[in-house]
Amino acid sequence: MSQANKTLTITTGLAGKVSGDITVPGDKSCSHRSIMFGSLAEGTTHVSGFLPGQDCLATMNAFKAMGIKIEGPDAQQNVVIHGKGLHGLTAPTHALDIGNSGTTIRLMSGLLAGQKFSSEMAGDNSLNKRPMKRVVDPLKLMGANISAAENGTPPVICQGVKANETLTAIHYDLPMASAQVKSCVLLAGMYANGVTSVTEPGITRDHTERMLTAFGYPVTVEDTPIGKKVSIEGGHKLTACDIQVPGDISSATFFMVAGLIAKEGELTIRNVGMNPTRIGSINILKQMNGDLTVTNERMAGGEPVADIVVKSSQLRGIDIEERDVPLAIDEFPAIFIAAACANGTTRLRGAEELRVKESDRIQAMADGLKELDIDCTVFDDGIDIVGGQLTSGTIHSHDDHRIAMSFAISSLRASGEIKILECDNVATSFPNFVILANQVGLTLKQG
Ligand code: S3P
Repeated sequence: MSQANKTLTITTGLAGKVSGDITVPGDKSCSHRSIMFGSLAEGTTHVSGFLPGQDCLATMNAFKAMGIKIEGPDAQQNVVIHGKGLHGLTAPTHALDIGNSGTTIRLMSGLLAGQKFSSEMAGDNSLNKRPMKRVVDPLKLMGANISAAENGTPPVICQGVKANETLTAIHYDLPMASAQVKSCVLLAGMYANGVTSVTEPGITRDHTERMLTAFGYPVTVEDTPIGKKVSIEGGHKLTACDIQVPGDISSATFFMVAGLIAKEGELTIRNVGMNPTRIGSINILKQMNGDLTVTNERMAGGEPVADIVVKSSQLRGIDIEERDVPLAIDEFPAIFIAAACANGTTRLRGAEELRVKESDRIQAMADGLKELDIDCTVFDDGIDIVGGQLTSGTIHSHDDHRIAMSFAISSLRASGEIKILECDNVATSFPNFVILANQVGLTLKQG
């Protein structure tokens, strides 16, 4: 994938008004899974609200390369997938380019481990530095012939199972609270003899369990003394269905923070996914005295959704509760900006997973905050941020979309211009971010 260095220049000064009525694009996790499960289903799956971000398009292209006919996304973000059943994928003729998407490479490792053909996956600079041993290890326990590079990073190379063999079902206690690893093992479990189960040490997002159920694939969930246990038996079938993808709470969080830190205004964000495993940012921002109202709660496509009304607020620093960490794992860059605008100190611990995201998000955010004269102290598993006056400077986003968008939002409270480098990857998760941000009152200039 190309890595041209685009620069996003922020020209706004001290806080303006953030107001309006917006809808954020579809949820990334659900969009990925809709393509994967739609491809493995029997029949035609219709997806609405699909996220047309580069990450989800990478998933789509990978399944097209394995013989699946997929139409869209059209202008309304509808996608049609002509599924070929659990055993309908065909060997790709080339190595699969996964771009920036950790979810794609990790979930597909599980799927590809169960296929009868060989495959290879790699991605861009950022993805090619990320840990894959966490998926390769359990898959090897299942008998998969799969490997990563010697240092545990991509490419992930899989030889597939022999004609007369299948994977072996295992029970796996996840060493870290990771939905991607959980999902990888469960998806391999669809191709294993017997019942594969996974226990998670902390709550992780459950879109795989929900969506497999929507496709008619039986999944069992039970509480155990060491955490939630999810079990799946190999060999059942997925039946095509209609999937409504909710708005992405991770994308919405940038606008929640923008609305809270702005000097004035009221912003409504509609149709936001409110899956209980994803609402950590709402919990945390409310504890920080954020005026967030969740209204119009309803169900759509097996997931809870709601509208969120955000009002400008004087935030206060808090000690973030560790139980909220996995529930807000993708939202911390934006929450750190809220912390920088709060009265007092915000403390985060138990978040070492942030160091292996699209960038080392603890260090990348600390470097950027310091550049803007915010006092912060880095720990192995977290950070302390002392609220203060953001100034001006140049930020490196390290090819990480969420670092770039967080500092774009921070411009609402900065005393001068902020220049953010390496912003190409904003398009991985939020292609219309700049347009929407400018629509609600920010002044972002892309160049
Ligand atoms: C995801 C799981 C999370 C999250 C990622 C998407 C998913 O990662 O950070 O952006 O769709 O399963 P973990 O596997 O570390 O939980």
